[in-house]
Amino acid sequence: MEDDVMSKIAVVTGASSGLGREFVVQISEKYKTIDEIWVIARRAERLYALEREIEGKKIIVLPLDITKQEDLEAYKKMLAKEHPWVRVLVNAAGYGIMGHVEDVVCEELTGMIDVNCKALVAMTKITLPYMKEQSNIINIASSAAYLPQPSFAVYAATKSMVRSFSKALNKELEDRDITVTAVCPGPVNTEFFDVAEKYSHTKAFKRLFRVEAKNVVKRALFDAYYLKTESTYSITMKAFKIVTKLLPNDWIVSMIK
Ligand SMILES: NC(=O)c1ccc[n+]([C@@H]2O[C@H](COP(=O)([O-])OP(=O)(O)OC[C@H]3O[C@@H](n4cnc5c(N)ncnc54)[C@H](OP(=O)(O)O)[C@@H]3O)[C@@H](O)[C@H]2O)c1
Repeated sequence: MEDDVMSKIAVVTGASSGLGREFVVQISEKYKTIDEIWVIARRAERLYALEREIEGKKIIVLPLDITKQEDLEAYKKMLAKEHPWVRVLVNAAGYGIMGHVEDVVCEELTGMIDVNCKALVAMTKITLPYMKEQSNIINIASSAAYLPQPSFAVYAATKSMVRSFSKALNKELEDRDITVTAVCPGPVNTEFFDVAEKYSHTKAFKRLFRVEAKNVVKRALFDAYYLKTESTYSITMKAFKIVTKLLPNDWIVSMIK
């Protein structure tokens, strides 16, 4: 199909709240050449509310659970039917649960791997045939990717995987001129903590470091535009990243514990 007749779209997972939702808002404002944004999450009513709010872009609501094979198949079929050019894929769906591995329910631990890793890889693999030069994949990792984290062990490990996967995939896709950016924010003010703090609470001082989703997303879109493979918002998180490179990780992990 010719480029000028293909619709150019963005696909955003985790679009019903927090960072994913903010990506939809900012992509609709900044990407003039994108015709449609496909918004994915389980809570359909939130997605339809977002559709009503966004002006000037067509929003396609896809109420999908991306850990379910049949829902991934539905997405695959939709791509095959519409045959769009996916200019931007944002993999923002994810969750974390704090607490010791011994204390958290097994399905909640493995569920983090299912959404944060397995579904992210599946979404990427299914979408890639519909991407072309000058397209972007934006994967939401976390500053938790920089270091093993006691009391957030599985979550931090999933985000290390996302960061590592993103960097390797970026190299693989270099010849196709597709950039993969791993976004590594510290704590962000979203509904993330409603789930994360089910078993254990964030220490009060850590709340001071929480930033707003709109700033993280603005930085991420800027970095993706300038073909950066990693996006870290805020001086504090940039400093944290440097510290994790300079100091022995085992020592920092002991300090965190
Ligand atoms: N907030 C932070 O402090 C922080 C820091 C670093 C990284 N992150 C990462 O940023 C990403 C977005 O988190 P957030 O802070 O925006 O949290 P959030 O407000 O809780 O958003 C999480 C999103 O993921 C979606 N989701 C979860 N499971 C899903 C599934 N099985 N299928 C489809 N969608 C699913 C949720 O939608 P439904 O429930 O409607 O399905 C929701 O839209 C996550 O990957 C998180 O790990 C967050």
